[in-house]
Amino acid sequence: MLKDKHILLGVTASIAAYKAANLVRLLVKEGARVKVIMTPASHHFITPLTLSTLSKNPVHAEFADQQGNWVNHVDLGLWADAMIIAPASANTLAKMANGICDNLLLATYLSARCPVFFAPAMDLDMLKHPSTQSNISKLLGYGNMLIPSGFGELASGLTGSGRMEEPEQIVEIVNEFLSGDKPLSGKKALVTAGPTFEAIDPVRFIGNHSTGKMGVALADVLHEQGAEVVLVAGPVSVNLSTKPYRVQHVVSNEEMYAQCMSAFPEADIAIMAAAVADYTPAAVADSKIKKKDGDPLTLQLKETKDILAALGKSKKAGQVLVGFALETDDEEVNALKKLQKKNLDAIVLNSLKDAGAGFGTDTNKVTIFSGSGGKFESSLRSKKEIAQEIVTYIKTLL
Ligand code: CTP
Repeated sequence: MLKDKHILLGVTASIAAYKAANLVRLLVKEGARVKVIMTPASHHFITPLTLSTLSKNPVHAEFADQQGNWVNHVDLGLWADAMIIAPASANTLAKMANGICDNLLLATYLSARCPVFFAPAMDLDMLKHPSTQSNISKLLGYGNMLIPSGFGELASGLTGSGRMEEPEQIVEIVNEFLSGDKPLSGKKALVTAGPTFEAIDPVRFIGNHSTGKMGVALADVLHEQGAEVVLVAGPVSVNLSTKPYRVQHVVSNEEMYAQCMSAFPEADIAIMAAAVADYTPAAVADSKIKKKDGDPLTLQLKETKDILAALGKSKKAGQVLVGFALETDDEEVNALKKLQKKNLDAIVLNSLKDAGAGFGTDTNKVTIFSGSGGKFESSLRSKKEIAQEIVTYIKTLL
């Protein structure tokens, strides 16, 4: 509940400013006391009269009101329990990131001591631009909280990421934060991470380049949000010894399968981020295979168990099952096929064609598809930030 919470809403010049009216209405309905500050240019998109009527408070945009009295941005900043900048235009984000203070909204942002949320809204190419991305990263680095933009049709007529998150979701995010409730308290989550190694003989194996960073970031975020986590980790390159949740170490597909099948019936959320081997040697040699002096060596391989598909088969109502698809060609078509075939609620597509995404990097870029036709496209971000975006998306499926 936001009862009696003081919310300062900053509205900037974006077509999504029309959604600010609904946002104010929902905040007031939740019991919050709302004050709105607008940038001067945002008046082209929505009138102060609409927002002052809905918020039941005067709306400010200038450093002095019509009587010439100073509008005290310091008091406004101190009054607020939370500040939400929604929509946050590219221009305002750039100014916030760089300490520019040429309007009342920016002065209030700089004075505010409360948590600040920002919900970008702009055209897809503006959002993708490296300068905007670096401004968003800077703002995250200052402790501000990003409410990621959704994917869909934009005012320009183009389709992509840049739509401001819906007011209902924004209210929920702020509500969760201010009430101190961890949003996933009471939920159990199963995550897989890393590669599997399939033994050829006592010294050799078939493996892959996965380091486990993405799966571990997901387990971290789920734990931070209150979920009881079981991480089934293949031979990852990440130190797991100090993790505050249960880690089950495995090596092969067979071991990962057994751990997942045993943990899944209890899980509310299962995310299979591991790069599991699809094939394993048909027979493991008992002793080291010796070189054959020029003769080729043929290994007979057999298919491994598809863990994700097995979980999909045994999934019960209320469980959310999420897979990953690492693709190099026909990415979207292949991901959607896996979503259907393995009975998933969502699939996270990683394209190896995207620079900075995939194995071993500290960054990633993903597209999430849901079973009900939803789609979310991330920008290139740290794996932790991507994990936060994936978990935010999964919460909407619970
Ligand atoms: N997966 C699994 N068990 C396997 C293989 C894959 O649980 N034996 C899971 C992965 O953890 C991932 C998803 O299935 O969440 C997709 O993995 P991927 O290798 O992209 O797909 P495959 O189904 O193996 O198909 P292909 O390799 O032919 O693309």
